[in-house]
Amino acid sequence: MSKQGLNSNNSTAVTSQSSVNSPLGQGVKETPGTQISRQPTNQLSNGLLGWYAACSTQSLKKGDLHFFSMYNEPLIIYRDQENRVRCLKDLCPHRGASFQGGKLENGELVCPYHGARFSSNGDCTNLDRITCHHIVDSNYNNYAKKIHLYQYPCIEKGGYVYIYYSGKAQTNVQEFDIKTTLEDSLPESYGFKPEEYSFEEVCVDFKCDWARIIENHLDILHIFWVHGDTIPDKDVNRNVITSFNQKITRDYRHIESKYNHKDKSKGEFITLKFVPPGRVFIYKGDPKSARYVQVLDHIPLGNNRARVIVRHYRKFLQNKVFTSLVMFQSLQHRIFYKVFSEDYLILKTQTYNEQMGYIQKDNVKLLGEDKMVQYYWDWLQNALKEDKPWDLHATTATTNTVYNDMPMIYPPENNKLAQQNSNRINRQILTRLLLPLTLLLILL
Ligand code: FES
Ligand SMILES: [Fe+2]
Repeated sequence: MSKQGLNSNNSTAVTSQSSVNSPLGQGVKETPGTQISRQPTNQLSNGLLGWYAACSTQSLKKGDLHFFSMYNEPLIIYRDQENRVRCLKDLCPHRGASFQGGKLENGELVCPYHGARFSSNGDCTNLDRITCHHIVDSNYNNYAKKIHLYQYPCIEKGGYVYIYYSGKAQTNVQEFDIKTTLEDSLPESYGFKPEEYSFEEVCVDFKCDWARIIENHLDILHIFWVHGDTIPDKDVNRNVITSFNQKITRDYRHIESKYNHKDKSKGEFITLKFVPPGRVFIYKGDPKSARYVQVLDHIPLGNNRARVIVRHYRKFLQNKVFTSLVMFQSLQHRIFYKVFSEDYLILKTQTYNEQMGYIQKDNVKLLGEDKMVQYYWDWLQNALKEDKPWDLHATTATTNTVYNDMPMIYPPENNKLAQQNSNRINRQILTRLLLPLTLLLILL
C-alpha cells in the first residue's frame, strides 16, 4: 500500500514489559521468554499466532459443544466436568470423525461414529490428557493409553474464553511452548476496569477476510459516511465534515491512534487501539474513567470466513430494572446488527479485490487519517510472512466444503438474529403497553 500522503503526527512510546502472572491454572507452562528477551521497540512483537478470544463465557453454557475453527482448523470449546474450559481439535482419534452430531454427557465428549467417550480426567492420572475409556478392544488398556485428543491451551478470564492458537494442536497442553502473554491483550493491562462497567455483546459472522474487518474497525472516515444514519450521535453523520489531529502511539504490544478535533474546544473524538493478533479497543478519554469502551475481537475462522465478538462496556444506564424497562439490550443489538450489515457488502467486495491483487500500492492512495490502517498493514504483511498461518491448514479447490457450509452464527445475509431481535422489541413494546391497559381495565 502507498505511504504517500501520510503526514500526520506520529509519536512513539515504549513501555517496559510487565511481569507475567500466569493465568493458566491447568498445568500450562506460560513461557513468554521470546517476547521478554526482545528489546522494547515501537514495532509490534506479537504475530498472528497467539492468544485469541474465541467465544464469550455467557455464550458457552455447561453441556454445550461450541464448534468453530481457526485458520480452517476445526475446533471445539466446551466445559469439562470440573467446569474448566477446553479447546480441542474436532477430530476423533479412533477413525478421524468430527464430533459434529456427537454430544457431551456428564462432561464427557461422545463421538457420533462409534461412541468413544473422552474425559478430561476419567481413568487418566494426567488431567491435561483426555483419554478414551469406552472403546472395547482385546488390548483396551494399551489402546486407551495411546489415544488422545489434540488440544490447545484454553482459559476463561473476564467473561471471555481465550485460546492459545499455534496452528499445531498437541495431545498434552503442557507441551506447548507459549511465546506470547495473554496479559498483553487484557483490558486491565491498558488501564480499563471491566468490573466497573455493564456491557452488551453480540457475535457476528462475515463471509470475508478477517483482516478486512479489523481494518474497518481502524478506519475512522467510514464511520461518518457508512454508519452516520445508524450511530446515535449527532456529530456522526454524512453532513458533518470534520478533520482531526491524529496522534499515533506505538509500542511492542499495541498501536494506538487518538483523534482530537481540530477545534480544540471539542477535545477528543475517539481513540482506537489495535492489540495483535485480533483485538481492537475503541474508547474516548482516559481508559481508567472512559464512560464507554468497545472491545472487538476478530476470529479468523477460515478463508473468507471471520467472526467478530463485539462487546460494548458502559458506565451509564447500569440499573438493570431501568435498562430492561427501556429495552436497552434489544435496542443496542439492533444497532449492532445494522452497523455490521452496513459494512458487509463493502467488506466482501474489498476481500475479492484484495485477493485479486487489485489493492496494490499503485492502485490505492491512503490519506493521513488512514495511517492506522497503514501501520496495521505493515504489521499484517510481516506477520503473514513470518507465521504463515494460512499454510498450516490450507484448503484447496477440491477440499470438501462441509465446514464452509455449516451455518454461521450471523452472516448478515441470513438476518434471522436481527429478525428475532426485532420481534423481541415488538413483543416488549406490546407487553409494556398492554400491562397498564389491563390494570386500568381491572380498576374500572
Ligand atoms: S471415529 Fe470416533 S469412535 Fe470411532
Ligand atoms: Fe464499520
